[in-house]
Order: sequence, then structure tokens, then C-alpha cells
Amino acid sequence: MGPSTSSAITLNINGEKYTLPVDHRTTLLDALREHLDLTGTKKGCDQGQCGACTVLLDGRRAVACLQLAVAAQGRAVTTIEGVADGDRLHPVQQAFLDLDGYQCGYCTPGQICSALAVIEEHAAGWPSAVTDDVRPEAGVPALTAEEIRERMSGNLCRCGAYVSIVQAVARAAEASASDASAAEAATFQDKEPVA
Ligand code: FES
Ligand code: FES
Repeated sequence: MGPSTSSAITLNINGEKYTLPVDHRTTLLDALREHLDLTGTKKGCDQGQCGACTVLLDGRRAVACLQLAVAAQGRAVTTIEGVADGDRLHPVQQAFLDLDGYQCGYCTPGQICSALAVIEEHAAGWPSAVTDDVRPEAGVPALTAEEIRERMSGNLCRCGAYVSIVQAVARAAEASASDASAAEAATFQDKEPVA
């Protein structure tokens, strides 16, 4: 008898543990959609080119169609189903909604997962291919429309909703930056000596 070609694996998705039997060749995308009924993550090209299947693996963007489900064990998988806080939309989702950052919506879960990571990567000072000055002392580059387009370039939109997508990412990034500075100010105030 040859080696077994399937195993029971445990995946950590949106903070919940799921144990499922899979053929070792199963992609993370198929495990999500076909085995776990988490169909928010979309299949576009199934070959790593469109970004529709973007999820976060330990907070970093990954195309789920090019990941084997077995290799996602022990990692934190975040899908679009885990982005909102109950009925409260995440600010990135709200910005897409308010600014019409979609038409048919098929690419939208991937766009939103990607945008979440873009905002974090930018705030952490990661340069992109269009950042003029990549020296550490230059600090965090301004999140211009050109920067957003470059950083989101792995996510295609067949409807061409790009103009609104860029605006939505910019708005969500601004909201996240002002939340961060409000939190920083609150921490600073907490440390002020009481008169
Ligand atoms: S379906 Fe994965 S990149 Fe297109
Ligand atoms: S909104 Fe239709 S593919 Fe992007």
C-alpha cells in the first residue's frame, strides 16, 4: 500500500479551529470554499494572478489558490468573514460601501483583505516599488493614489472600480491613522502626572 494521500488537518480561521479531512493537494482556497462553506473568499483565475482569493496568513497577504491547505496549519488565517466585528463593519469595509468601491462585488473580499494589509504595511513604513525615497530616515512615505495603486496592484477588478477603490483605501487609511494618533494621545495623557 502506498503512502496516504489525505490527512485530517486543523486550520485556525478567524480565530476558530476547524478540523477537516483533505486530500494533500487541496488548496487553501478549495478548503475554505468547498470543505468549510466559507465562500466569501472568491475564486477568479485559480492561478495566482487576480487576487480574488486574497486572505491574510499571520497578517500578511496571500493568494489562497496558491497555498496548500496542509501548509496553512499552525498559521492564523483571516478571511473576509472574520473582518467585521459582529454587525459592525470594519472601517475598510465601510469605506468601500460609502465610496462605491465595487460594482459586481466579486473581487471585493480580496480587495478588502489586501487593503487591510496595505494599511498596516504602509503604517509600518514599508516602501513600495513607487516610493521615491526608501532610506529609513525618510520615514513613512505619503500614501498617495500612486502608492495605493501600486500596493493594491495584485488585486484585479474586472468591473474597473479602481478609482473608487483607491479612494476607499485612502479614506480607511486616514481613519486608521487618526485612530492610532488618538490612542497614542490617550496613552500619553494616562502617563501625565496627576496635579
Ligand atoms: S483565484 Fe487566486 S489569484 Fe486568482
Ligand atoms: S467589482 Fe466586479 S470585479 Fe471588481
